[in-house]
Amino acid sequence: MAEIISATSGRALQQAAALLAAGEVVAIPTETVYGLAGDATNGEAVARIFEAKGRPRFNPLIAHVADMRMANRIGVFDSLSERLAEKFWPGPLTLVVPLQAGSGIHPLTTAGLDTIALRMPKGFGGELIAHLGRPLAAPSANSSGRISATTAAAVAADLGARIPLVVDGGQTPVGLESTIVKVEDGRLRLLRPGGISAEELEDAAGTELVRGAHGIEAPGMMASHYAPGAAVRLNVDDVHPGEALLAFGPSRAAGWQNAVAVTNLSEQADLREAATNLFAFLQELDRGGAATIAVEPIPLQGLGEAINDRLARAAAPRDNTVKEA
Ligand code: TXA
Ligand code: MG
Repeated sequence: MAEIISATSGRALQQAAALLAAGEVVAIPTETVYGLAGDATNGEAVARIFEAKGRPRFNPLIAHVADMRMANRIGVFDSLSERLAEKFWPGPLTLVVPLQAGSGIHPLTTAGLDTIALRMPKGFGGELIAHLGRPLAAPSANSSGRISATTAAAVAADLGARIPLVVDGGQTPVGLESTIVKVEDGRLRLLRPGGISAEELEDAAGTELVRGAHGIEAPGMMASHYAPGAAVRLNVDDVHPGEALLAFGPSRAAGWQNAVAVTNLSEQADLREAATNLFAFLQELDRGGAATIAVEPIPLQGLGEAINDRLARAAAPRDNTVKEA
């Protein structure tokens, strides 16, 4: 079983760095969700990440960096990408840029692409990378296709038998994965909505986001993802007997009294609070054993776009899709 060490204990940084330097994987807190980290320059370490997640296919991973110097050694930054990095890093934004020649990044990290997804995380992750002096590949620390983990306990319950260490940094503040964007011919394409809203990005970039990726470029493209055990029914205005209810805001859907369990993402209809709670509350309702989780409508603006994106994937049919990430 994985050892769980508090991020604030003096040992966490040393122990995580020692394991990572030896090619092991370690679950670490970031501001978005917990990541399952391995040395992005070490093919064996990256292979261990896929193995621990039970990922059926090698999807490209995000390389996490400690500072701009490290980022520039790995990726080629155009002026808009550089501006966005300056504005939002460290933070929940991932930039896809061309891979720098001689970057040292193992091809398993990029799945052989000539581009790389880069992110500078806040807090423990950033310190760890600086200490190690190497970029860390880190997908969300959950079994393939399942709900992302926002607490160390959720990571340990899911992956604890397969990894040596979970660093416990408490509940992750953002609660949703990073927003992924890519500059193409001076235009900014949204590959996955996430912890930075489209509006914030458009403000900073001074240009409108282009939506929709080409092919499967981000796990946002996979139909079924973030799947709980229960079926998920979205935008409900009436709750059926026996369903669990994932509520939002001050007023309830009709028939809410029929629900076997109710949990509210945000009584005040605060989308930031709802994002933070989303994965943990889905897991909590799922543990209750209801066959279906009914979800009240959540507005699409701001972080609501990413919340609705994750919920749509949690609700998608599970059998006809490859599960990823
Ligand atoms: O918040 C996050 O982004 C979390 C934390 C741990 O940092 N990480 C995360 O990683 O969500 P993951 O692997 O679950 O999702 C990253 C996705 C990949 O699955 C892939 O589809 C996309 O980023 N990606 C990676 N490299 C790419 C590339 N070169 N071009 C386009 N998409 C890429
Ligand atoms: Mg994931």
